[in-house]
Amino acid sequence: MKLTIYQNGRSVVFTSSTPILLSTLLTKTHNTISLPCGGHGRCHKCKVIARGQLSPLTEIESAFLTDEEVRKNVRFACMTTALGDVEIILPEQPRHQILTTGHMPEFPLIPWAQGYGAAFDIGTTTVAAYLYDLTSGNCLASDAEKNPQSVFGADVISRISYAVSEGTAALAAAIRDGINTLLSRLCHQAQIPIASLSALVFTGNTAMEYFLTGTNPTALAQAPFVQDRWFGEFCSASELGLAASNASVYLTRSISAYVGGDITSGILATEMTAAREPVLLADIGTNGELALSHHGELLCCSTAAGPAFEGAGIFQGMTASHGAISQVCAKDGTLSYHTIGNTTPAGICGSGVIDAVAACLTLGFLDETGAFDETCIPKELRASADGVPAIRFPESDIVLTQKDIRAVQLAKSAICSGIETLLSHAGLHAKDVAHLWIAGGFGTVLNTESAERIGLIPSGFSGRMTAVGNAAGMGAVMQLLSKEMIATAEELAQRARTIELSSDPVFCEAYLANLLFPDCES
Ligand code: FES
Repeated sequence: MKLTIYQNGRSVVFTSSTPILLSTLLTKTHNTISLPCGGHGRCHKCKVIARGQLSPLTEIESAFLTDEEVRKNVRFACMTTALGDVEIILPEQPRHQILTTGHMPEFPLIPWAQGYGAAFDIGTTTVAAYLYDLTSGNCLASDAEKNPQSVFGADVISRISYAVSEGTAALAAAIRDGINTLLSRLCHQAQIPIASLSALVFTGNTAMEYFLTGTNPTALAQAPFVQDRWFGEFCSASELGLAASNASVYLTRSISAYVGGDITSGILATEMTAAREPVLLADIGTNGELALSHHGELLCCSTAAGPAFEGAGIFQGMTASHGAISQVCAKDGTLSYHTIGNTTPAGICGSGVIDAVAACLTLGFLDETGAFDETCIPKELRASADGVPAIRFPESDIVLTQKDIRAVQLAKSAICSGIETLLSHAGLHAKDVAHLWIAGGFGTVLNTESAERIGLIPSGFSGRMTAVGNAAGMGAVMQLLSKEMIATAEELAQRARTIELSSDPVFCEAYLANLLFPDCES
């Protein structure tokens, strides 16, 4: 049977001799469709338009697709099987705004290779890349792209579970393809041949390093969740199937199964261990990775925030791209908002969600349990969507649902409780911490007042929170340019102590308490 896939004005034809699930077809053919729940039928986000000989609508599709969507041949890719010739039309992929800049301290330039090199920060959602002249230490190009592994699930856990059941080959191929694409774009920008690259450094969370190297991640999926590969090692680019075949590769040392080399790199770039006072680093994304330095001790933890802060898992969530509601405030008894590109809103991104929840609390639209208080919400903002009550942004089709609020409560409680647990283990309070560095693209756009208002950050950090950009990427660059920085990073990773939150009584108690929003009356 003939399977034709259309996206962004291109079409590609595949054939199959047996019926095939659309999500399996799209995954195998490396098409950019997001499967946030890994194809388990829970997220209802894997919508495609499909025509031809298809399996009948499932009960879930009948329940969650609108009549209009059914009329337009919208299907859930993970529930629909191609039985004969089929045409699939994928949603347009916007070009994402991905943060590549960050703070880098001064450090000695002691190259471990000659010529040119590239450093990569492989995030669960995005990959940032930097090309450097290894002798001068000058940046020649930088670029970023979505992590192509998103077809295997939006978060680390979904991808690990895919790799445990199906093997790592497809995940490794996806990220290697993505890296090769970035390598050719970087070299094109700098006008140098890929073959002239002699050094590559990769940092990322532990699972990302497992997938890049094709390592079986079963150890990350089973109690006691102790990794069986720590990295902090060299290999060759050709071993990993990368286009820069003459390059040596260094893989940043990770700290534990869920505190990866990206945090090692972030600790290096922020120089937090050099501070005399206690300092916290929070890298908030799908996974919240946290580190606390105080009196020579380095405590870390990782807390599963879920994808809400990246706009995924939210009914009308989207990445921070054109048309996303990115800022919201309470004004004249209603919600006032700004969209990226000053255009008609197409959805809401993570920073907009946090602002919106904070504004709803301020306006009394939400109570401390996270329930909408309909008596306080103006009639024109009241809505219902996804089978639950919702609030509509003025003069738009965009809503925030009760389920979205619940997703935010789970995510913000995970981060806040992780911070409180680290502080508790160190015998500290928020007021004792000199700085809270917030790393990652999300930290740069986060309104810290809103973050405190909804309880994403414990109270008491006002005025001492600073966004440090892509600290992991900057740490990777430091390791690319200096063997001394590699040694320092390895020492930091070995010295860091990880607090396992799932079995920690302080965390469990804090997590329940922090599900509530702080004091709605203030
Ligand atoms: S419902 Fe299909 S990927 Fe989640």
